[in-house]
Amino acid sequence: MDRQQSEILILEDEQAPPSGAVTPPRQPKWYDTFNYIANPDKFCRENWQKYGPVFKTGVFGGTTIFVGSAKANQMVFNGDSQYTEISLLPTTMAMFGEYSLFQRPDLHRQRKSALRPGLAGRALEGYLPHINKTILQAIEGWKNKKTIALYPEVEEICFDILVPLLLGINLNDSQENISELPVTSKAELKNLYQTFFNGFFSLLKWESPLTAYGRGVKARAKLIEFMSAVISQRRKDTEAIDPSKDFLSMMLASQQENPDGVFSDRLIENQCLLQLWGSHYEISGLFGSIIYQIGQHPQVLDRLREEQSEIKNISIEHLQEMTFLEATIKETLRILPPSSTANRKLTRSVVSDGILYEKGCTVIAEPRIAHILPEHFKEPEKFIPDRFLPDSDEGKMYEYIPFGGGVHGCLGAQMAMVIAKLFTSHVLGMFDWKLTGKAQFVQFPIRRIKDNYQIQIKSRV
Ligand code: HEM
Repeated sequence: MDRQQSEILILEDEQAPPSGAVTPPRQPKWYDTFNYIANPDKFCRENWQKYGPVFKTGVFGGTTIFVGSAKANQMVFNGDSQYTEISLLPTTMAMFGEYSLFQRPDLHRQRKSALRPGLAGRALEGYLPHINKTILQAIEGWKNKKTIALYPEVEEICFDILVPLLLGINLNDSQENISELPVTSKAELKNLYQTFFNGFFSLLKWESPLTAYGRGVKARAKLIEFMSAVISQRRKDTEAIDPSKDFLSMMLASQQENPDGVFSDRLIENQCLLQLWGSHYEISGLFGSIIYQIGQHPQVLDRLREEQSEIKNISIEHLQEMTFLEATIKETLRILPPSSTANRKLTRSVVSDGILYEKGCTVIAEPRIAHILPEHFKEPEKFIPDRFLPDSDEGKMYEYIPFGGGVHGCLGAQMAMVIAKLFTSHVLGMFDWKLTGKAQFVQFPIRRIKDNYQIQIKSRV
């Protein structure tokens, strides 16, 4: 029997596809992985121009179908447990480990809903004072400078915001609480994190000090040891377990309330690491791109300043009133999406929009394609924040996908938006800045401006 999910036909094994259904164009090539990693924007754009928004590649081995049209994205995002499963590189899967959201499809829904209270909704309101204070303290230091290296500066700020919120630890090196732990300084923690991150995308699953994967595995073990010590330290001081304080406390409080529930110690340690992994580099990349885009568009800057002049203080309600700032951040995420979405493997063949997607192939919904299609965005080459203002009809679900979609859609989208708004709002209020020419970007796995790119800054206060 055929099973129909909206307009998606899921084929039984051996069942012939309807006549007229065609497989996506283009043959996978052995060098596709290298071309994609070297310049994913170029790879996506050139293939889209030649073959349309759905095409076959050999990226990451086997047949990987890249898609960008709304119908194809919808097919990719909604197949979980029916006709797709998450399928990442073997190194990436091993680095995620068994307590991630990806490894256990049977526990995904339960784990994801248990994590949500620490990453979205009301929790964000409680996080505002810390985020504000950290940003203000950090950019205060810019007042004495004429130029800054954009990415290293914003990456530092992100780390300082996210580590206390997600790992529940104060990073001030002079504090006693960190000096008693297996990782005793912020610099060491940051380096371990970078090594851990690099291990995810190694093409070679060889556990050796000579490989990024081998070094990543070692860094992971050390970070888990660190988190385990943080948890023991936190348990000694029961008053510190206030569920609204940070993500770690939310999980510990939930564990105390229901010791047989979702949150084992192993899950808690792993989730702290993974959420920081999932957010730190994505938000750092975004911060750099926002400053760069605004710097290129003085008319956008003027409108942002005008909107900011109406805002009296910063609360969740006031953040919601910053509609032009929100539109500017969304447009930055459209033009410069930080990353791709997760790869899904087809566990059954499906037909959608006349295209046959064969069982065994991998599918990737690519923002780099979806965001440049003229059928999704008018004049896609131009930076036009207005397309995301509330009364615009652009940016629809499945057409705008910087945070993926469906069951695996990003859990931190709201948090990312709050942090990005606060950061941009403070920088707009305190500084004028000037770009120093065209920036070069690191393109993979997360887009970010290269370390050596400088901007000129001047205090407005
Ligand atoms: C600019 C910032 C961010 C971007 C661009 C981003 C992007 C993404 C993307 C593309 C996915 C894959 C979705 C899919 O394949 O359908 C994802 C998943 C996820 N993100 Fe984010 N993310 C950001 C920030 C965050 C933050 C701040 C957190 C939490 C602290 C977070 C937590 C997650 C989680 C838990 C998932 C996996 C969801 C699942 O498998 O169910 N992200 N994100």
